[in-house]
Amino acid sequence: MAQVLQPLRHVLHELMLPQASAPLVSMLLIIVVCPLVALLMILRRPSTAATATRSASDREQLLSKLPSPPGRLPVIGHLHLVGSLPHVSLRDLAARHGRDGLMLLRLGAVPTLVVSSPRAAQAVLRTHDHLFASRAYSPVTDILFYGSTDVAFAPYGEHWRQVRKIATTHLLTARKVRSYRRAREHEVRLVVAKIREAAGAGAAVDLSELLNCFTNDVVCHAVSGKFFREEGRNRLFRELVEANSSLIGGFNVEDYFPALVRLDVVKRMVCAKARRVKSMWDELLEKLIDDHASRLPAAERDGGEETDFIDVLLSVQQEYKLTRDHIKAQLAIMFEAGTDTSFIVLEYAMVELMQNPGLMTKLQAEVRGNILLGNKQGMVITEDELGNSNLAYLKAVIKETLRLHMPAPLLVPHLSMADCDIEGYTIPAGTRAIVNSWALARDPSCWEKPEEFMPERFMEGGSAAAMDYKGNDFRYLPFGAGRRICPGITFASCTIEVMLANLVYHFHWELPPGSKEKGIDMTESFGVTVHRTHNLLLVPALPH
Ligand code: HEM
Repeated sequence: MAQVLQPLRHVLHELMLPQASAPLVSMLLIIVVCPLVALLMILRRPSTAATATRSASDREQLLSKLPSPPGRLPVIGHLHLVGSLPHVSLRDLAARHGRDGLMLLRLGAVPTLVVSSPRAAQAVLRTHDHLFASRAYSPVTDILFYGSTDVAFAPYGEHWRQVRKIATTHLLTARKVRSYRRAREHEVRLVVAKIREAAGAGAAVDLSELLNCFTNDVVCHAVSGKFFREEGRNRLFRELVEANSSLIGGFNVEDYFPALVRLDVVKRMVCAKARRVKSMWDELLEKLIDDHASRLPAAERDGGEETDFIDVLLSVQQEYKLTRDHIKAQLAIMFEAGTDTSFIVLEYAMVELMQNPGLMTKLQAEVRGNILLGNKQGMVITEDELGNSNLAYLKAVIKETLRLHMPAPLLVPHLSMADCDIEGYTIPAGTRAIVNSWALARDPSCWEKPEEFMPERFMEGGSAAAMDYKGNDFRYLPFGAGRRICPGITFASCTIEVMLANLVYHFHWELPPGSKEKGIDMTESFGVTVHRTHNLLLVPALPH
């Protein structure tokens, strides 16, 4: 119950009752909010056109056939069974109460299909991909992303198809991603220089902080061009991404009690912070777009060599009939989707390598054995050098990190647009589907020693050698699959590979004195992504 009430408490604390004690807030929730929700649920109207095609009782009848855990409570349904790490709770619940990889949870007022087997994931993300490719309405993403017109939260339809096409054919193509390689290398050089300085002084570095800034700055450069550090814009973007994450992350009251949010007073409460954050985004994005619009057209600048996302979006604005808000929505989502995710993978890769020193040595031997930079100050491994050397173990380490620590373990929830049959059950239109990609990647019936960090499984001759992360194998879906698969795979893998290669090439790494005995704290927090709670502090040393 505590976890369920957490978001509600958070909202009340933030917006109404800063001084109230936790038990008081919980009591208020139970006494005031729950009956309100119950009343609204009785009075509620169907919320989407899709659901309107079936009567509520028909829908209920179909849903009631799906396996579902006992212990459902009035109003909150199964929410009390979902702990602070939902991907773990959902895996455990599905193991006990699911059937054929399917389980129905009533999360507040929203029936949610939890998908936990490769076969069921294939049914949702391949066989019926066209039916499950939509997203549910959320008042908060609606505010933050200009009416959910961004590519990640837009419902399936013509607008989403257009903005998805822009992302895949203009912003995130292999060619475009490659055009930012010098910028990425420059950012790598800055990180390496900072670590070198700490190594000289024998001091620990906050690797989490450095890597978080790195991924943020790489995305900032791609989105807004080479002046992204002016007036501390990169720092502001980072703060805004964090603010967005705290608003859209986790299991939120507004998503699971849609009827409640229809009440004006509640909507104002829930959305107040989102509006404040959005207005800061808006101011920054407006300024950046104005700066770009008043410059020479991109093709006439710098020999037309590198154009950022704002240049590109302005250049296709007429062709795709984009409004200014549409442009801002795409820019904001690129920050949100691109920053934290790559940072999490880099950080966990280093954590796993520190916990498995033999694997660290093996990776260092591969990188150092294949690439020779010489001793010139400021030299870093470039992406061309990476491309020319076959660093299979580096790639395997990244794949294995993505398997054990996927940043988005439940993908982004999908929404079905029409009835369909899966494993003999009819799933009615308008059902939310959560694919537990984390559970699939740790399923003992699919993976040998699933809890162990073993990059070798992805090497030639290993049990997962043929697996890529492009959504072709439903045991391994760190980027999702089907129509909604992540379009940023190339962007992410280039960013992660070049940074990780340089971290292990240039330095030896030790845990700081004092934490050697305790080891690395692996506590995680669940939000829009799953990340480590404590920063990773390591002591770098220069190899002799
Ligand atoms: C390691 C890094 C990354 C991981 C693990 C990751 C993972 C994911 C996942 C799981 C989804 C949801 C798929 C679904 O709904 O089924 C997604 C969507 C998305 N990602 Fe990524 N992502 C990463 C990096 C990036 C980067 C660097 C960008 C862009 C710069 C990006 C842009 C997007 C966008 C725009 C969507 C929404 C796609 C849609 O709904 O059509 N991602 N990502």
